Amino acid sequence: MDKKLFIETLGCAMNVRDTEHIIAELNKHHSYSQTDILQEADLIIINTCSVREKPVAKLFSELGVFNQKKKPDAKIGVCGCTASHLGQQIINRAPYVDFVLGARNVSKISQAIETKGMVAIDINNDETNYDFADFRTSQYRCSVNISLGCDKSCTFCIVPATRGEEISIPSELIIGEIEKSVKSGAKEVFLLGQNVNNYGTRFSDDREKTSFTQLLKDISQIEGLERIRFTSPHPLHMDDEFIEEFASNPKICKQIHVPLQAGNSRVLKDMKRGYTKEWFLNRCEKIRSLVPDVRISTDIIVAFPGESDEEFLDTLDVIEKVRFDTIFNFKYSPRPHTPAQNMPNQIPDDIASQRLQRVIELHKEHQDEIMHGYVGKTFEVLFEDLKPNGEVFGYSDNYTSVFVKGSEELLGKIVPVKITQAFRTSLKGEVV
Ligand code: SAH
Ligand code: F3S
Repeated sequence: MDKKLFIETLGCAMNVRDTEHIIAELNKHHSYSQTDILQEADLIIINTCSVREKPVAKLFSELGVFNQKKKPDAKIGVCGCTASHLGQQIINRAPYVDFVLGARNVSKISQAIETKGMVAIDINNDETNYDFADFRTSQYRCSVNISLGCDKSCTFCIVPATRGEEISIPSELIIGEIEKSVKSGAKEVFLLGQNVNNYGTRFSDDREKTSFTQLLKDISQIEGLERIRFTSPHPLHMDDEFIEEFASNPKICKQIHVPLQAGNSRVLKDMKRGYTKEWFLNRCEKIRSLVPDVRISTDIIVAFPGESDEEFLDTLDVIEKVRFDTIFNFKYSPRPHTPAQNMPNQIPDDIASQRLQRVIELHKEHQDEIMHGYVGKTFEVLFEDLKPNGEVFGYSDNYTSVFVKGSEELLGKIVPVKITQAFRTSLKGEVV
């Protein structure tokens, strides 16, 4: 009989992909259908994130609630980055948890559900991670890992400790996976890695090195594939060749994440980001000069240890100059296994909150101006979802959310849309 799976996914796009991987693995050997109702689930999984402290604290309160509400024989599993970094401690603290699978161990899910108390949190390379799953949440978009782990050592970041060292996935496997998805209806691929534009520097075998730019060129040859997106590139590896490919390849969506973290070069050095304020600005200027309607998103951390009021102004200055369309902003959160947690001059929370507020306020002004500037322009939109109110939703080529009146005939098609109305995070328009 069909069993029911309740799965909650926190954190980044890689976790979303890992969740797809878990579902596919489960369905290789069992038959699970997904449910949103916890009380009817036979298997409950939380796919966790550990980049900041708050979600970790939330995990244990949530597990407690799940344990009270679940069916008596339902199993609970904790997967993802918090599983990697806390391991056995999770079961010690919440003994009703049945298994713990780290971010690089999700392919062991079938074994885990049969093995009470199993904890697998190895971060070494394991080729079963290449065994791409045949399940995707979206009809028109497939997400594909191109590398696992991260070799950088940003001093605030726990990811290298939870996802292990960086390894590139052989390009023939990536291309094969995309071709398979395109055959079953995908139009767009979302390439995933912690540091995508460092692709090709290390493989698990001794094959020749290659580059992300070359991979993009190869992927864009796939017939039937219409759009390519990727996250996250690292500003340090944005060489001219990469930016020129981004600008000139018509299949690459003109939206790019350029994670700033901080605007001040001394702070960036303490963060070990490897670039300066000037380099960051120069890269963004180059991108904008080649792609005028590009949308640039970023990640910002305020109140990194030792960041003075004056140094923080550099972050505002970069925001003012680049005019990001989306900012994911965070207060610095001290993490285990990271050098920054032991740095002197940790910043009090009230100052961090004030800085965060200033980032949010400045960004809102830009967001409104950018979105209103789109009114009257025409964008190519890939439609993917029919809403109950008769509107159809899709993303423009520069990845802005667009709604039009229409029917399911638009689904899966790329159609020109003239923008008639702008809101802070979405646009309305008419098919032309
Ligand atoms: N490889 C990705 C980063 C993954 S972590 C990249 O370079 O974009 C996602 C984001 O979480 C980071 O970019 C950073 O802004 C934020 N982050 C990571 N560690 C953090 C910490 N200790 N405190 C606050 N934010 C953090
Ligand atoms: Fe983290 Fe820096 Fe890698 S932010 S994921 S260590 S590039």
